[in-house]
Amino acid sequence: MCGIFAYTGNKNASKILIDGLKALEYRGYDSSGIFVHGVGNIKSTGGIENLKEKIGSNFQGTTGISHLRWATHGQPTKNNAHPHTDCTEKVFIVHNGIIENYKEIKEKLISLGHKFISETDSEVISHLIEDNLKTEKDFENAVSKSLSVLNGTFGIIASYVNEPNKIIVARMGAPVVLGIGDGENFVASDPSPIIRHTKNIVYLHDGDIAIVTPDSYDIYTLDNNIINRDIEVIDWEVEQIQKDGHEHFMLKEIINCPNTVNDTLRGRLMTEEGLAKLGGLEIVADKLRDINRIIIVGCGSAYYAGLIGEYMLEEYAEIQVEVEIGSEFRYRKPIIDKNTVVLAISQSGETADTLEAIREAKRKGALTLGIVNTVGSTIARETDAGIYNHAGPEIGVASTKAFISQITALSLITIFLGRQRQMSLTMGKRIGEELLELPKKIDSILNNKEEIRKLAEKYSKYKNLLYIGRKYNYPIAFEGALKLKEVSYVHAEGYGAGEMKHGPLAMIDENFPTVAISLDDSVYKKVISNMEEIKARKGKVLAIATEGDSGIKSLADDVMYIPKTLEMLSPILSIIPLQLFAYYFALKNDCNVDKPRNLAKSVTVE
Ligand code: F6R
Repeated sequence: MCGIFAYTGNKNASKILIDGLKALEYRGYDSSGIFVHGVGNIKSTGGIENLKEKIGSNFQGTTGISHLRWATHGQPTKNNAHPHTDCTEKVFIVHNGIIENYKEIKEKLISLGHKFISETDSEVISHLIEDNLKTEKDFENAVSKSLSVLNGTFGIIASYVNEPNKIIVARMGAPVVLGIGDGENFVASDPSPIIRHTKNIVYLHDGDIAIVTPDSYDIYTLDNNIINRDIEVIDWEVEQIQKDGHEHFMLKEIINCPNTVNDTLRGRLMTEEGLAKLGGLEIVADKLRDINRIIIVGCGSAYYAGLIGEYMLEEYAEIQVEVEIGSEFRYRKPIIDKNTVVLAISQSGETADTLEAIREAKRKGALTLGIVNTVGSTIARETDAGIYNHAGPEIGVASTKAFISQITALSLITIFLGRQRQMSLTMGKRIGEELLELPKKIDSILNNKEEIRKLAEKYSKYKNLLYIGRKYNYPIAFEGALKLKEVSYVHAEGYGAGEMKHGPLAMIDENFPTVAISLDDSVYKKVISNMEEIKARKGKVLAIATEGDSGIKSLADDVMYIPKTLEMLSPILSIIPLQLFAYYFALKNDCNVDKPRNLAKSVTVE
C-alpha cells in the first residue's frame, strides 16, 4: 500500500511533497523518493526524515512527483525506491499497485536493450513509456499506449523532463485523487496530503487518465474519450481520511479483509491445474519434496494461525507438523533432522522471539521458511525462502487482516506441498476454487456487522468469557479470546470444546458466558454436546454457526451466522464475527481499540 503524491503550481514543490508524504505515512513505508523538474531525483531508505535530510534546502522547483514505498516486489533498498526512471533519465514515474505481467514486459524490454536497476515490477512502466516515446507523437500517447499492456493494479503518476509543467496520472484498481487548487493542482493516493491545500477533490475512476498542469486537468478514458468527473468538497479531517472514514484502523482493517484475501491470493492460484504458484518457494521446491516434518513458530495471533496450518498440512499435505511459540522454541531442545523445515509466521517480520527461533533452527541446520507481511524485514531476510502476505500495513495493534492473510497463505502452502505429494488434482482445484469464493463470503458477514454490534453491546457487561471450538476452529477459540482480551481488557479464555468437562466447566454459571464455534462440519455434533453441558449449568451461549442452521437457536442464547465453506478454510470466516465482536465490545467499554494499553505493534525485545 504505497503512497503517491504530486504537485504542479508555482510554489516550492519539494516542501509541499515532503509534508504530503508525512500525511501518507500511515499507509506504511520503508523508503521514499522525490523527483522535481529542473532539480533532480532523490531517493532514500527509511522514514521521510531521511529523505528530507538528503534534499536539504536547495531542491527548488515548482512541479514534482513523490512516493512512499511499502515494498511488495524487491527489498526496501534505494534502487527499489521510486521514482523510477528510464535509460535516458527523461521519464520519471511513481506507482502504487502490482503489475502482474511485469516479468514478461521486462524480458521484452531487456531484449530491446533497456537496462534496469531495480527488482521492482514498477520500473517496467518508465521503460515502456521511453520505448513508446520513439513511435508515439507525444507524451500523453506514449503513456496511454504503455498502460494498455499492463495487467494488475495501478495508481501511476508520470513526468517527462521535456514537458516540465505537466504530469500524467492513471488509475486501475488503486485509488488516485486530484486536488484542484487556484493556479496549482495536486495528485495523490488519497486526499490526506491534499486537504491542507484545497478541499476540492476529484476521485478518478478505474481506467481514467488525467493530464494535469498548474491551471488545468483533463480526464480521458483509456480509449481516449474525454470525460467529466465531479469535484467533491471534502470536509473530513486527515485522520478520518486515513481511516477511510471508519472510526478506527481496527474496523477499517477488518472491513478490508475481502481485499486482503484477494491480495494474498493474487497471481498464486492455478485453479485448472489444482496448483499454487509460489515464486518464493520455487528455489527450495526440490528440497521441500523430501521433507517429512514441519515445525511452525510464531507468537500470539501468528502462533494461532500456525495451529490452523497444522490441521491443514497434516490433513491435506500429509506432513507431520508441530507448532511452537517462538519464546519457548529455543529454550527446548528441538529435534531437527535434515528432513525438518522450520516455518516462521510473522506480520512484522521483526518479532524477537520468532526471529531467535529461526536463528536457532538455522544453527541446527534446518531449512527455514517464512510467511511474512513486511517485505525486507529481518525474518524475511534471514529465512531461506518464503512467501509474503501482501496484506498491506496493519496499523491497529490487534492483528486482524494479517491473521486472515496468514491462514490464507497457509492454505496456499498446503496446496503447494500437498500437490507435491498425494493431493489429487480434484482436491487442489476444490481448495483453490473455494479460496476464490472467500472474499464475497467475508463481505456477506461484514454486511451483518450491525447485528454483531448489538450482540457485542449486549455481552459487554460480562467480565469473563470462555471461547470454545474444535479441530480447525480450536485455534479460533484462542484467537477470538485473544482479540477480546487485547482490546477490551476483559478476561477471556480459549479452550478446546472437548476439554470443558476436564476442568473449565466448573467456572460456568449465569455470569460466565461461552462463545461456541459450532459450524456445520465434521465435529458439529461434538460441539453441540459441549454446548449442552454448558446450558445444563445455566451458562449463556453465543454460537458462531453456519447459515441455514436454524436448529441451533433452540440451544444457543444468541447466534452469529457465517456462510458455509470447506472445513479447512472455515477459520477465515469464523474469525471475522469474533474480530467485530471484540471491536464493538471494547468500544462499548470505552477502550482504545487501535492502541490497547501496555501493547506494542512490533515486539522487538525478548
Ligand atoms: C495479536 C497480535 C500479536 C502478534 C504477535 C506476533 O493481535 O497482534 O499477538 O500476532 O505479537 O507479531 P508478528 O506477527 O509481527 O510476529
